[in-house]
Amino acid sequence: MKPLLRDTGEGRPRHYSKLLLAAAASLFLAATLFFHHKSNPHGSTRHRPMHADELLKTCKARNVIPGPPSDFKLRKVSDRFAPGTPATYVKNATIWIGRSEGTYEHGGILLDKGIIVKVGHITAADLPAKYETIDAKGAWVTPGIFDMHSHLGVDAAPELLGSEDTNSIAGVAQPWLRSIDGLNTHDDAYRLSISGGVTTALILPGSANAIGGQAYVIKLRPTAERSPSSMLLEPPFTLNSSAKTPLLPNRWRHMKHACGENPKRVYSFSRMDTQWSFRKAYNEARKIKEKQDKFCAKIEAGLWNEVSDEYPEDLQWEALVDVLRGRTKVNNHCYEAVDFDQQIRLTNEFKFSISSFHHAHEAYLVPDLLKKMYGAPPALALFATYARYKREAYRGTEFAPRILSDAGLQVVMKSDHPGLDSRFLLYEAQQAHFYGLDSDLALASVTTTPAELQGFGHRLGYVKSGYDADIVLWDSHPLALGATPKQVFIDGIAQLKSPYSIKKPAEFQVAPKVPNFDKEAKDAVKYDGLPPLLPSNKAVSAMFTNVRKFYGRDSTGTSITSQEYAEGGSGVVVVVKGEVLCKGLASECAEYRTLYRDLEEIDLEGGVIAPGMLTYGGPIGLTEIEAESSTSDGVEFAPISQKIPKLIGKNPLMQASDGLQFQGRDTLLAYRNGVTAAVTAPVHSGFIGGLSVAFSPGAVNRLAKGAILKKVAALHVTINSYDEQPSVSAQIATLRNLLLGDIEGDIGKYFRMARDGEIPLVVDTDNADVIATLLDLLDEVSQLSRSKIKLIISGGAEAHLLAKELGQAGVGVILTRPRPFPSFWSGKEILPGLPLSKEGAVPALLANNVTVGLGIKESWQARNAWFDAAWVAIEAGGTLDKETALGLVSTNLEKLLGLEVETNQDLVAWHGGDVFDMSSKVAAVISRTREQIDIM
Ligand SMILES: *[C@@H]1O[C@H](CO)[C@@H](O)[C@H](O)[C@H]1NC(C)=O
Ligand SMILES: *[C@@H]1O[C@H](CO)[C@@H](O)[C@H](O)[C@H]1NC(C)=O
Ligand SMILES: *[C@@H]1O[C@H](CO)[C@@H](O)[C@H](O)[C@H]1NC(C)=O
Repeated sequence: MKPLLRDTGEGRPRHYSKLLLAAAASLFLAATLFFHHKSNPHGSTRHRPMHADELLKTCKARNVIPGPPSDFKLRKVSDRFAPGTPATYVKNATIWIGRSEGTYEHGGILLDKGIIVKVGHITAADLPAKYETIDAKGAWVTPGIFDMHSHLGVDAAPELLGSEDTNSIAGVAQPWLRSIDGLNTHDDAYRLSISGGVTTALILPGSANAIGGQAYVIKLRPTAERSPSSMLLEPPFTLNSSAKTPLLPNRWRHMKHACGENPKRVYSFSRMDTQWSFRKAYNEARKIKEKQDKFCAKIEAGLWNEVSDEYPEDLQWEALVDVLRGRTKVNNHCYEAVDFDQQIRLTNEFKFSISSFHHAHEAYLVPDLLKKMYGAPPALALFATYARYKREAYRGTEFAPRILSDAGLQVVMKSDHPGLDSRFLLYEAQQAHFYGLDSDLALASVTTTPAELQGFGHRLGYVKSGYDADIVLWDSHPLALGATPKQVFIDGIAQLKSPYSIKKPAEFQVAPKVPNFDKEAKDAVKYDGLPPLLPSNKAVSAMFTNVRKFYGRDSTGTSITSQEYAEGGSGVVVVVKGEVLCKGLASECAEYRTLYRDLEEIDLEGGVIAPGMLTYGGPIGLTEIEAESSTSDGVEFAPISQKIPKLIGKNPLMQASDGLQFQGRDTLLAYRNGVTAAVTAPVHSGFIGGLSVAFSPGAVNRLAKGAILKKVAALHVTINSYDEQPSVSAQIATLRNLLLGDIEGDIGKYFRMARDGEIPLVVDTDNADVIATLLDLLDEVSQLSRSKIKLIISGGAEAHLLAKELGQAGVGVILTRPRPFPSFWSGKEILPGLPLSKEGAVPALLANNVTVGLGIKESWQARNAWFDAAWVAIEAGGTLDKETALGLVSTNLEKLLGLEVETNQDLVAWHGGDVFDMSSKVAAVISRTREQIDIM
């Protein structure tokens, strides 16, 4: 039997008629069999076995494609209804209904018994006797977010050995494993993800194995039973029964596959081995399926004497047999053309469909190949800008969602939580939209599309009557950056107890008008995923016209100021050799047209000019592909736990400057997104991090003019309890000794400089107790040596707990995770921000006079510095202006890292909008040090 096409909206009516047909056919078959049995002329020697009816039922049920009961839409109470939940009337909402309903409508939503009872015009007659009212005041409402790739619960936060249950290394193809068996109910992230609007998730086992096992769909809310099982949504009947008693209609099953690097690195040896493990496993399943089909053909023909008494079955392989029968949604972690090709061959060899390829960083290069999938083309589950972390992600592009959807394929945005924090899954959709994916498809990519793909289109993914009461009220249009839930309902239960929210300006209540990236998207394909990123157009002098605003620096250079031009943006800025010679109204700078005949005219169409940003952290400039050591400077010696070769000298200290690599893709993408300076410390896993360097990400090599902005920026130390380090107290003791003792070599020299305040000391730690100890140590050292250490905390997840003390001690903080997550035990006391806390960490620290900067943890994040800073400003409501926010990724970092005022003098010209608007993109970088203008 040909597997049913994917469970899309269009497929559904056909699906029901199939069920009806199947029912009619089986009635007919039953009648024929009855007759046949009675009048068997050959007089079989054996009687029908006692459980013949059972066997016939099993045979009849074996190919039934899953789907809801035919009366599902008539339900009045959800199977997940929690008794006692009040009805809720949400009035005056702006409702995004779901994909292909086209638009939205204004009106009310009535939730009762776990179901959306009515949407639109709700009258007194519709309302039950008792209900609660929420006045949405026109706010946007969407269906709850469905994360189609999550490890919530199986890779729980904070990360502890005791709760990590994502991967089995017992075998390479293990369809019998089930993610539900490892689902921890104490993951800190459930609550956080709900606060981002995530209501449902497909919990996949990890990707270490070719066949990692069965996946399960959960709703994230806490249940009265507090058990993993009670979180499941429509679990297949195989969950607690291995009996083959047919239960109609069947429910969808879900399965994880993986190909490419992960299974190759973790369990198998090469892609060839992985593929063989697939073929072997599927062949096993095929043999069982064929036995079953033969068995059923016989008994359905009444030939009981020609078969044994038992239905052929194998508990280990039955799940894979259900894949071959088209009753399982296969989710396949797969990146490259070579992997898709291999997998698509597999589907055609064994005749099954893969519902979606996940990660799929090269999918946009091979849409025609994808369409050769057996049955129906797969959907693609993607990240927005998270790429290049390993070879198979190297050709990833932010334009993939748009290119694939233009090619007629379905696109889903997913988190791979905790790969990305699923709390911010909507941000992935926002970025996909920013880079060209249609707005309705972008919203559907985290709601309707995943719900339908996984077989839940009958109850999830829409705000329509009859659907589950899973809805989110947003504080802005959901595609506007920083959109935050004001309330989240799951099964009709309000999930946020006393949510904090802010009132966002009118421009946030509509979908952002995003820039045009047609050329960039074309180039991504044209250059096979590696379009040139070095700006090819350069100018010496230019006149920028239609400038709306000019952000500059105050006289000390340490804070951002701004000057607005007339409404409509009629300012002009003239730049020659990186120097701004004139800025003002067109008339004020007109003479420069005659003075400089070769002025390049660049129309910013209402854009702005602003200081270039600075990125701090990650191995930016030191590593091209994080998982490939040969593309990297490597990992530094760990002097307190490792033997150091003598030849390198006594107590050496590594300088990041010596390992710098230019023209890396993350580096250039950062540059193209307005980051004109980067500070990076040597990659290390031990306590001593070495000396960071400040460099220009736009430079072609280190010898180019202006490439190295400051050879030695700061001294770096990491204190934590999870890398392979001696105890935290041993690390602190080492630090004390290095600051106060008389140590030889570079280590001694630079720690003395740090003690005397000649170089900033950056300590990477998230933990409040460690930070408090450091403040104490600061006191101790300064009393003994009358020194003035310039201490900076980097990481800083728990720094907000000591905001006052940090402010008083003059210690700055660089938050390397601008939107915090409790990754580790030592950093789990985060200040989550809206809607869970009134303010976020940045305003809390700023209010205590702490100098705060935003940093990164991985190189690819550098390109998103402006999203990060904008988000902080948006979340802070009116309390933090754009100048201050820009300072978080420029002047504050410069101040903290002791970079001289001249270090980052580059300016960035933004086209089409203000610096943090989702309507603007970088048009040019004006480099003073390099005396040129790079035109993007
Ligand atoms: C809905 O809320 C908006 C914003 O508060 C308000 O202007 C409008 O009048 C309200 N509409 C109704 C029908 O109450
Ligand atoms: C076990 O499965 C049956 C259906 O096969 C279902 O009715 C029942 O609720 C399940 N029990 C649990 C605890 O999930
Ligand atoms: C921050 O600094 C300002 C200006 O020096 C001062 O007025 C204010 O009291 C300080 N705030 C705190 C919380 O220390």
